[in-house]
Amino acid sequence: MELSITVNGIKFPNPFLLGSGPPGTNARVIAKSFDAGWGGAVAKTVSLESAKVINVVPRYGRLRSRDTGEVIGFENIELISDRPIDVWLDEFRQLKKEYPQHILIASIMEEYEKSRWQELTRVVQETGVDAFELNFSCPHGMTERRMGSEMGEHPDLTEEVTAWVTEVSKIPVWAKMTPNITNIKEPSLASVRGGASGISAINTILSVIGVDLNTLRPLPTVEGYTVPGGYSSQAVRPIALRMVSQLALALPPQVSISGIGGIERSHDAIEFMLLGASTVQLCTGVMLHGVKIIDELKEGLARFMSDKGFETVEEIVGKSIPFFSTHMNLVQKMKEAKRIRAGESSRDNDWAEKSITEKTEELTSDRTAENA
Ligand SMILES: Cc1cc2nc3c(=O)[nH]c(=O)nc-3n(C[C@H](O)[C@H](O)[C@H](O)COP(=O)(O)O)c2cc1C
Repeated sequence: MELSITVNGIKFPNPFLLGSGPPGTNARVIAKSFDAGWGGAVAKTVSLESAKVINVVPRYGRLRSRDTGEVIGFENIELISDRPIDVWLDEFRQLKKEYPQHILIASIMEEYEKSRWQELTRVVQETGVDAFELNFSCPHGMTERRMGSEMGEHPDLTEEVTAWVTEVSKIPVWAKMTPNITNIKEPSLASVRGGASGISAINTILSVIGVDLNTLRPLPTVEGYTVPGGYSSQAVRPIALRMVSQLALALPPQVSISGIGGIERSHDAIEFMLLGASTVQLCTGVMLHGVKIIDELKEGLARFMSDKGFETVEEIVGKSIPFFSTHMNLVQKMKEAKRIRAGESSRDNDWAEKSITEKTEELTSDRTAENA
């Protein structure tokens, strides 16, 4: 089955990319993922002055299912890359030389200064990377320097900074959005006005993973203290899916979407594609389960395509978007189907006779499928 897809003129061998973060922390790990079969990678975010980036330990926190112990939520207070830009430039060059068919996307972030953004764009572009992703979305640490989500929360800034980059960039530019905002469409459309050809969504959701009941200290605790961090993994997927669907409905058709948030399996990835993503990115899933999950991602996508009669990945993109409507319209449709009358007559008795959990069960549709 042919899994390649062309997005913004770039041919991705398959739509599965490492998301910016630990899975793309240096050339060695990126090369390993390319060998394992990933279509591309968004490298860990780089800036001009790595010396300003100082990470803490511990910087991760896990939320586990009470029943199975499986990790369902993950918080991090990790910053962008603390490796020098010159080292990164050599590694970008080397990766593109050794893996010309794999797609390498550089994630970049800088302070609010045109000359800095344009210098970073120029030096990284010279290495031959295929595209840029502008990190307007890291929700912690960098915000104290007015970077990351501090920019992404302000549409006027996403437009202005994207325009600085597109003024000097000769390759496609994606803007990565923060979910810590009421309406993700606004900063996204602003970036498109600034010249972005794609939107990546979502970055992590501001969170506090928990509190240690012995020490009374919130987690993760660094020398007794903490800061709110970014939430990722399975628990964020429904929120990410909602935001991606909103973008699919709002963005001009030529603007691509890269879907991110809680993807671990092909089932999850296909959901993002059906809601408008032409590529998907995985970060925490790779941290928890390793690069080998690419095998199931590719097999599951190929199986889905042959089961449903899709010949190209493009055909899947946005296929479920027409099925969003308004609540009022759902009610009308129900009325048309004459179901409401029967529902109304028995409603009061129903709630009285059945337990609340039975009634909830009756009104719920499960997302779980065999391979989920
Ligand atoms: C430990 C960690 C570090 C991250 N670092 C970055 C980063 O440097 N740049 C960036 O754009 N996103 C970063 N992210 C966000 C991810 O790329 C992704 O948007 C988010 O985690 C949601 O996807 P996931 O559930 O697949 O992890 C990081 C996430 C984690 C968990």
